[in-house]
Amino acid sequence: MIEPEIYVFDAYGTLFDVHSAVARHREAIGPQADRLSELWRAKQLEYTWTRSLMGAYRDFRALTAEALDHAAARCGGLPEGVRMPLLEAYETLDAFPEVIPTLTALKTRGRRVAILSNGTPGMLASAIQSAGLGQLIDDCLSVDEVMVYKTAPEAYRLVLERFGVRPGQISFQSSNRWDIAGAARFGFHTVWINRGGLPDEYQDLAPGRILPDLSGLLA
Ligand code: LAC
Repeated sequence: MIEPEIYVFDAYGTLFDVHSAVARHREAIGPQADRLSELWRAKQLEYTWTRSLMGAYRDFRALTAEALDHAAARCGGLPEGVRMPLLEAYETLDAFPEVIPTLTALKTRGRRVAILSNGTPGMLASAIQSAGLGQLIDDCLSVDEVMVYKTAPEAYRLVLERFGVRPGQISFQSSNRWDIAGAARFGFHTVWINRGGLPDEYQDLAPGRILPDLSGLLA
């Protein structure tokens, strides 16, 4: 394969650590913190898929708040004064440690670096800025434009429309295996960033490569 010129990254879980929001308030939340964070993420994603199937779009910021409220109710409620700080923390998540060096190296090699995410443009702009990625991201694409979530083909098509390329010219990186399945089905070259060492799934929609973190992209 000729090395692709455009690297498109999923945002949440791939560049930004979704569990860093709860981690910042771990002490206040107590022993349910990890369960809360897992449920919050799982519900947030479930809502994207069900709403896309129904054709009943609500933006990712609204779904993130709805998912937190459900997860919190399942975990016995949130302590006073934690809900808003958690939602605010979601706008300023930590980037994983290898993100800045990897994106910097890709840009030094002349590659174009973009995001394709379910996040709203506002959420993504805020996360990019607070993680110091502003100079490293050339384009930030949000499914909000088409009002349907990944894994709908319309979401991945945003990339082709923006760059005027064919799917085979794109390297797509995501830590979400379901997202890699959608991107592979669409025809992108795919790299599954398997941060958690999870077993494979979606066997007929296999990733082109599997890496433990983003730094392997430079090899
Ligand atoms: C994203 C989430 C779903 O699209 O990971 O950024």
